[in-house]
Amino acid sequence: MSAVVPPEAVPAQASARALEVENLTVSYGGIAAVKGVSLHVEPGEIVAILGANGAGKTSTMKALVRLVKSGGGVKIFGRDVTALATHEVAALGVALVPEGRAIFGNLSVEENLQLGAYLKREPKGMARRLEQVVTLFPRLKERFTQNAGTLSGGEQQMLAIGRALMSEPKLLLLDEPSLGLAPKLTLEIFASIRDIAKNGLTILLVEQNTRLALETAKRAYVLVSGEVALSGDAKALRDDPRVKDAYLGESVG
Ligand SMILES: Nc1ncnc2c1ncn2[C@@H]1O[C@H](COP(=O)(O)OP(=O)(O)OP(=O)(O)O)[C@@H](O)[C@H]1O
Ligand SMILES: [Mg+2]
Repeated sequence: MSAVVPPEAVPAQASARALEVENLTVSYGGIAAVKGVSLHVEPGEIVAILGANGAGKTSTMKALVRLVKSGGGVKIFGRDVTALATHEVAALGVALVPEGRAIFGNLSVEENLQLGAYLKREPKGMARRLEQVVTLFPRLKERFTQNAGTLSGGEQQMLAIGRALMSEPKLLLLDEPSLGLAPKLTLEIFASIRDIAKNGLTILLVEQNTRLALETAKRAYVLVSGEVALSGDAKALRDDPRVKDAYLGESVG
């Protein structure tokens, strides 16, 4: 007789990939935005998804945390998440920093950070995690009681990343952290991303800033019209003329 095991009783495998995506499809009203994307992320890796506007990057990220319906397979730490709700995926140790940041403008910096830890309730841990985040982003400490809506774009991005880190994720999904930021702040944000990764966090990064993404990630996937057109080692992709040229709509040079 075989016992029926509910999915939540199946433990994540210690040796499993952090993320395994197979033949992912996302459609909006019958129009395909993601057309069979397969990719994976090993524990501790930084992996980038690159692609022009509308390539399907955000749709892919949203599918991973079940914010949009999708076809195909998604496994996170060995667990099939396709039947889970977004909060259940978060409980597996996944945090998404969404495109456009989605911070709460009329709440303070501190309150925004506390919201990121809603899955963790012990007050002692809260103080420690707040300290870790402001150590990473000292600017947030200076603005702790300030309304988040009054922060600069770069500071809001720091807050969005900080808020995600408050849940102490094992897999961090970053959707265009450099969007709308001045070059200096972009560099600051990417330095922080590298710092975060040094502590062993696994990161999947969506970026249009190809050069910076390929300097930061170990491997990358290039999406074109909802499909993986090119993938591989970041170093090799940096020298690949197709990356600069056709696929990303950038001028060569
Ligand atoms: N909610 C939606 N309803 C209908 N179509 C959508 C929706 N969200 C995205 N799309 C379409 O799906 C395609 C992929 O969009 P997506 O946001 O995933 O692209 P992206 O690679 O993140 O682009 P960008 O770099 O501009 O953020 C686009 O053609 C877009 O218009
Ligand atoms: Mg997007």
